[in-house]
Amino acid sequence: MAKTVYVGMSADLIHPGHLNIIKEASKLGDVIVGVLTDKAIASYKRLPTLKFEQRKLIIESIKGVTEVVAQNELDYSVNLRKIKPDFVVHGDDWKDGVQKRVRQKVIDILAEWGGKLHEVPYTKGISSTQLNKAVKEIGTTPNIRLEKLRRLIDSKPIVKVMEAHNGLTGLIVENASVKKDGQVKEFDAMWLSSLTDSTAKGKPDIEAVDVTSRLHSLNDILEVTTKPIIYDGDTGGIPEHFIFTVRTLERLGVSAIIIEDKTGLKKNSLFGTDVAQTQDTIEKFCAKIKTGKQSQITKDFMIIARIESLILKQGIDDAIKRAKAYIEAGADGIMIHSKEKDGSEILEFCKLYNNFENIVPLVVVPSSYNHLYEKQLIEAGANVVIYANHLLRAAYPAMLDVAKTILENERSKEVDDQCMSIKEILTLIP
Ligand code: SPV
Ligand code: MG
Repeated sequence: MAKTVYVGMSADLIHPGHLNIIKEASKLGDVIVGVLTDKAIASYKRLPTLKFEQRKLIIESIKGVTEVVAQNELDYSVNLRKIKPDFVVHGDDWKDGVQKRVRQKVIDILAEWGGKLHEVPYTKGISSTQLNKAVKEIGTTPNIRLEKLRRLIDSKPIVKVMEAHNGLTGLIVENASVKKDGQVKEFDAMWLSSLTDSTAKGKPDIEAVDVTSRLHSLNDILEVTTKPIIYDGDTGGIPEHFIFTVRTLERLGVSAIIIEDKTGLKKNSLFGTDVAQTQDTIEKFCAKIKTGKQSQITKDFMIIARIESLILKQGIDDAIKRAKAYIEAGADGIMIHSKEKDGSEILEFCKLYNNFENIVPLVVVPSSYNHLYEKQLIEAGANVVIYANHLLRAAYPAMLDVAKTILENERSKEVDDQCMSIKEILTLIP
């Protein structure tokens, strides 16, 4: 009887190295490839460019592959115990880093039935890392960017979103990365905040920066980034205008718009009840959601309804009633906002929300209750966390301080330590 050989791979950008592994594996027996699902890959690195179904299809048509199965975790255990292969074949480049522990576990599990790990020498001159870098340089298409947000929500415990208000902050969100516990941590998407976009233009956050101007900022960001975008749509304007905003954002490759259930002169939510703000009626807001949903063309674009009941002190019951109505009206997500520092009303809302029969992804914005860790938000059932204003809040005091120090000293030498060097700024953008 033919031996069985198991090969696990992400199979995103197939290159000769992958083909070599499959060729070597097929010399040992029938090759079953476990293609890592989006969720498995997202658990330790960036979401792959191609979707699972696309990657599976490619591997199925490669010579030497007998069968393709899904591998749902980075860890091989589940599939290995099910298939009990005689061999696992892998490149010999996984002895260090995140994969080291995975490798040892594969060896241990195979030993349970006498299976063996067979390692193929790493193919020189080509690597997925290099190819990924090249793909990133080429950029993305509106379509790929648009559908990525839903893929992220499906694949990650929580989708991390950071505000961007111009090309430079877009680049920070695109590229900021830290390595911790063998994992690469990055932001998943960008928030086009009305507060930071307006503030950066020297205007108050009252929809005075019109959609056309907001689209200029958006375009600057689109030009230099590839990550998905959630657009802060304020109130969405009147329904007749909202149609155009939805279509335009969709055409540009924006993944979602969040509109808030306020009407009349909108003020920033973090003022709470210190300023006059009017909440829309449930009926009118539901009609706006429906109008937006009817006008979109792709199936993936998301219209997320933002509930201001807690901001406006209307109570949890009102927030819950609205959440149900907005979902019923077709909202693809709910954003619940609160400016209470202790976070208790948000957690209470999440608890009630998660008992709904019919739920859609839940978005939270912990600007005030910022002591809560992402882990606690995940436990509460949130799917998306937005850091709504932090890059601009960090930049402004730093810039003001430098401006004042130069005035005081009548020269700029004293600010050297607070500034990046001339050389650094010249080479920041290649
Ligand atoms: C924004 O970032 O513009 C928002 C979130 O709408 S908040 O400022 O908290 O209202
Ligand atoms: Mg806003």
